[in-house]
Amino acid sequence: MPLTAEDQPETVRRIAEAMGMMMVKVEAREYRLEKLIEELRQLNETIRQNTIHMVSSLANALAARDQYTEGHTARVSELAAAVAGQMGLDAEEVEFIRLAGILHDIGKIGFPDALFQDHGQKNPDHLVRQIKKHPQTGAEILKDLDFLGPSLEYIHCHHERPDGKGYPRGMHDEEIPLGAKILAVADGYDAMTTDRPYQPGKSKDEALTILRKMSGTKWDPKCVTALDQVLTDRSK
Ligand SMILES: [Fe+2]
Repeated sequence: MPLTAEDQPETVRRIAEAMGMMMVKVEAREYRLEKLIEELRQLNETIRQNTIHMVSSLANALAARDQYTEGHTARVSELAAAVAGQMGLDAEEVEFIRLAGILHDIGKIGFPDALFQDHGQKNPDHLVRQIKKHPQTGAEILKDLDFLGPSLEYIHCHHERPDGKGYPRGMHDEEIPLGAKILAVADGYDAMTTDRPYQPGKSKDEALTILRKMSGTKWDPKCVTALDQVLTDRSK
């Protein structure tokens, strides 16, 4: 016999009816919460997409000044993300590395035109000093964009080297974040294999030989191995 039936004592019936009403309200609230969560999920995805578009616009602003940068940032971003995946980093970390790849050279946006003219000769000292500032300039330009998270530091450190001879801060191996080491390997590989007006790009094998030779000094050995694996898998 249901607790709300006519022949139940009145107190029992009232309690049962109140409980029933409560259950209906709880279910309605649960439904509203689920809808809200779904709306939040969609909003989050829209923000993520807008973020990526905004980041790409920043990178395009640099590409408009420097032809070489255009394809370079996209390739470095894609390759760095693949290396990060190969090293078993989680999806969120891979995305931060991808973002850092798109923006790693944004600090070059303040370069004088002379620095975008590839003349194939050694740059004079005052220009070299400017070149070496670009990771820091980039980090300063982007510092208020909270969504970049650790990407900001990867950008700041993408020219640091395990042997401490990198720039701008001459950091040592253990101080350099893994994301920056991954970027450095992808950046180095792409720079070596890209054709320049004054010299053709190196082959994949030539570039890998140089990366292996300078593994432990200029580049992180684990990142070099992972890049090697990514490229080997791609050529199968
Ligand atoms: Fe750079």
